[in-house]
Parts: sequence; structure tokens; C-alpha cells
Amino acid sequence: MGFAIFTGEDTELPDYRGVPAMISEIEAKLYRSTARTYTGAGSVVEVGPWLGASTRSLCTGLNESGRDWSLTCIDSFRWNAGYSQKSGIALEVGDSFLSIFEQNVAPYRSRIATVPSYISDLRAEQFPKTIELLFIDAPKSWKTMAQLYALVASRLIPGRSTLLFQDFLHFTSYELIWFFLLIPGLKLSHLSSEGSTGVFSVTDQLDPKQHDPQALHPRHLPVARLQQLWQEFLGELPEQKRNDVDGSFVLLLNDLGFEAEARTYAKRTVWSARDLKRIRSVHDRLSISEPKKARKYGVLLEELEAALKRPPGTST
Ligand SMILES: C[S@@+](CC[C@H](N)C(=O)[O-])C[C@H]1O[C@@H](n2cnc3c(N)ncnc32)[C@H](O)[C@@H]1O
Repeated sequence: MGFAIFTGEDTELPDYRGVPAMISEIEAKLYRSTARTYTGAGSVVEVGPWLGASTRSLCTGLNESGRDWSLTCIDSFRWNAGYSQKSGIALEVGDSFLSIFEQNVAPYRSRIATVPSYISDLRAEQFPKTIELLFIDAPKSWKTMAQLYALVASRLIPGRSTLLFQDFLHFTSYELIWFFLLIPGLKLSHLSSEGSTGVFSVTDQLDPKQHDPQALHPRHLPVARLQQLWQEFLGELPEQKRNDVDGSFVLLLNDLGFEAEARTYAKRTVWSARDLKRIRSVHDRLSISEPKKARKYGVLLEELEAALKRPPGTST
């Protein structure tokens, strides 16, 4: 295994009391511990701070680095369906939450520049020229990740920069695992023992023109190669993480039109009710944006639900 599992045992929980968080406590510690490594070789950028729990965690680490620092925080700062339930804050969908973020990061406010924007509307000039630490917790799909990558890749410093990616092993954002498996120049250094965060070191100059994410998309690979890469990746993971993400390969195969392979893989995967809940959430999201794709998920879901109801050891 070429990376370490971060358990946070040697790191104290940063103080973000009172700030609702979508990251786990171990991930908050990982933000802190990553930020502590700051050397001042480039700027620090966070994409997707939400209400500021991750921001406060990483600011704690930046203070501990002993370097002079400033931080650019990029987010649409627009309220989404589901945020009220997660935070207990009553805002309407579409409302700005920038002022709540600013209050929550008040102790560090003078060091933080905010950029309220959707990733798709960002311009390269809105980023610092060089980035040493990049914290990302916003893109959930290949498309949005590719948009962000086009803006930041050339600003990362080979041999110096670190990228913390909160959604790396997030089951329903499974395209992102593939982004990081297929884009060269990034090496996984840490996985959080809880949650989905991966930390990567930048080993080579990243060049979106030379390594265009569109050309590197898994749809260009034969299914046998995808299966081989997936097994290699699973082989690197500890058992709990393996069980956590294995089912997401079915979703990828299904998306790419390898429906027979998706079903075969689904039959050998150990499914839990939690997996089904997660797949249903992808299905429901797609029903609005991509109904055709959602129908394919619907068929898969019915099969998986039936498989879960069958006594173990029996099959159709
Ligand atoms: C999962 S939350 C981040 C949680 C946060 N890091 C924490 O510690 O609790 C994702 C954030 O990314 C932002 N976001 C999602 N998609 C975005 C996009 N396409 N452009 C800009 N911001 C986006 C959301 O507004 C939200 O604040």
C-alpha cells in the first residue's frame, strides 16, 4: 500500500464548535494536519467550504505552520435543498449563505478572501498564480472536476503541492475515484480512516492540454482494462474501504453502457441496504437532470432490491 491511513490519533480536534459540518471529526483533523505542512511556497485555496467547519480546521493548521498565510475560499455560497436539515439553519433554496460563513470564520476573517461563484463561471485569473495547498469539497462529477482541473492544474507545484480531496471515496460521486486513478501526476498519500477524504501529492507538472480529462475519461477504455484497474485499486484498500466503494463500480459500468458486465459484477458484490439507499439517491438526482440514465438505474435498483430480499446463497 503506497499510502497511509490517517486515524487522527496524534492530532487534536480543531475548534469549529457551533459550525455545522459535513466532514467527520477525523477528516477535520486531516484538514488541520495537512495545513500544518504549509511552507509558503504558494497560496492556499479551498473550494467548497460551505459554512466553514473545514475552513476553521485548515486555518488552525495554517496558524500552526508558523508561516505567514492567506486563504482563498471559493463557493457558490448558495443554499441547496437538504442544507437546512443538515444544519438546522432556515434559509430558502438559492439564498446566499456568505454572511453566515463570514461570521463562522470570524477569528481568521482578515486572512480569508472569498470568491462567491459556481465553478462553471470561474476564470483562471480568480486563482492565485501558484497553489501549494488545495482543499476541494465541491465537485461531485467528472464534468465539474474537469472544469476545476482546467483552472488549477498548471498552478500546482510539482514536488511541493498537496491536494486534499474530500469526496475521493464518496460512493455516489464514484466518477471522482476514476478521475484520480486516470489523471497522471498525482500520488495518493493519505486516506482518512473515516469519511471519504484522500490526500494527494503533486508529483509532476499537471497539464490539462497534454492530459485532457475528456480524452482520459473511462469511456475510452475497454471494459477489461477498467475491470483490471478496479481490482488493482481495490487490492490497495483496507477491507472496510473496499466494501464501502466496491458497489460503485457497478454504477460506472452501467453508466458506460456495459450493462451485462454491471449485472455480473452486481451479483458478486455484497450489497447492503445502505448501498441501495445511496444508489437510490443517485437515481433520484438523475431523474431530474438525466431521465434516460435514471431509467437504467431504475432497472438496476429493482434487481439489487430483489437480490437483497433473497436468502443468502440463492440466486435467480
Ligand atoms: C459538501 S459541502 C462542503 C462541506 C464543508 N467542506 C464542510 O466542512 O462542512 C459542498 C460545498 O460546495 C459548494 N458547491 C457545490 N457545487 C459547487 C459548484 N459547482 N460551484 C461552486 N460551489 C459548489 C456548495 O455550495 C457547498 O458549500
